[in-house]
Amino acid sequence: MAQQVRGVIARAKGEPVRIETITVPDPGPGEAVVKVQACGVCHTDLHYREGGINDDFPFLLGHEAAGVVEAVGEGVTEVAPGDFVILNWRAVCGQCRACKRGRPQYCFDTHNAKQKMTLADGTELAPALGIGAFAEKTLVAAGQCTKVDPAASPAAAGLLGCGVMAGLGAAINTGGVGRGDSVAVIGCGGVGNAAVVGARLAGAAKIIAVDIDDRKLETARGLGATDTVNSRAADPVEAIRELTGGFGADVVIEAVGRPETYEQAFYARDLAGTVVLVGVPTPEMRIDLPLLDVFGRGGALKSSWYGDCLPSRDFPMLIDLYRQGRLDLDAFVTETIALDEVEKAFERMHHGDVLRSVVVF
Ligand SMILES: NC(=O)c1ccc[n+]([C@@H]2O[C@H](COP(=O)([O-])OP(=O)(O)OC[C@H]3O[C@@H](n4cnc5c(N)ncnc54)[C@H](O)[C@@H]3O)[C@@H](O)[C@H]2O)c1
Ligand SMILES: [Zn+2]
Ligand SMILES: [Zn+2]
Repeated sequence: MAQQVRGVIARAKGEPVRIETITVPDPGPGEAVVKVQACGVCHTDLHYREGGINDDFPFLLGHEAAGVVEAVGEGVTEVAPGDFVILNWRAVCGQCRACKRGRPQYCFDTHNAKQKMTLADGTELAPALGIGAFAEKTLVAAGQCTKVDPAASPAAAGLLGCGVMAGLGAAINTGGVGRGDSVAVIGCGGVGNAAVVGARLAGAAKIIAVDIDDRKLETARGLGATDTVNSRAADPVEAIRELTGGFGADVVIEAVGRPETYEQAFYARDLAGTVVLVGVPTPEMRIDLPLLDVFGRGGALKSSWYGDCLPSRDFPMLIDLYRQGRLDLDAFVTETIALDEVEKAFERMHHGDVLRSVVVF
């Protein structure tokens, strides 16, 4: 039987979000209903509300979540009721040309639940990133559920579902940071600070954190940054070069999503180094670089989708590291809040007061 639960809805561009009753259908073939235990407030939720992603209002927000599988539909074998899972927004298809070439982390045809959740009057909802987890229960494709050790705290585990995974993966998977590398991270919010942690896990010798907010830099230092640069006070390209013997970093991770910070990343890396763009730009943004510099500086310019993660490979492994005390996910949970406090959390995020506010149920 379809169920009625409470969810956070964005009705129209720029309008404050509000709690409404939504209808969650029983899971159909290949689907699962998950009882959400925790869901982080990510910048992308605010982008949805501001109409920056698309115009498919009303949105059911929330996508950085962990919970317990309540029911599964026909043919679902990967998870069962009672499993503790992290939700992911890139359920791989196994059939597309990327999957067939053995590179499922790039899957070009990821999928979500086929059925729609609705408002009480039957209006279909667009769930954020195909998840919609600012709700007591949500309907997803079973492939969006990744089973992990249930001893992990849901608030911390859920963060792997988006921003923290994106940052960790930008360093470890996309940037290929290795032992002894020098790494710079530009923009140290939830994503950038996770890249700092990823660089440390991967054995980087020098980790330079760059931000315009000293509070973020202080957090970065606590998480493993060896040096910090406030780019309001100093030219970050010069500062990064100075800190790396005059050469630039082996890997520079851009976690803001703006042309000027991308350009800083481009020039702050050593010859043959790697730039990773994990920040998400908006459609009007452009960059203008001398093509000769693109050639002459060599190396790799890469983008990182979801940290190029493979949830089935990376989530259980990272939860194991968390349980062993080697990955401090709790450090990213600035505060836990109730479902009706998401609008306030957007304000705090906008003012840079938090790494993550996490709704707990
Ligand atoms: N690639 C992915 O799969 C993926 C996943 C999640 C989020 N993201 C993107 O990552 C980016 C960061 O997300 P977040 O949640 O960490 O956001 P956030 O708002 O928490 O952090 C952004 C940080 O950048 C800093 N900043 C802003 N302008 C700057 C500048 N000019 N120079 C240096 N620092 C600057 C801010 O002070 C803040 O600390 C966003 O663009 C988000 O959409 C990407
Ligand atoms: Zn695929
Ligand atoms: Zn997100």
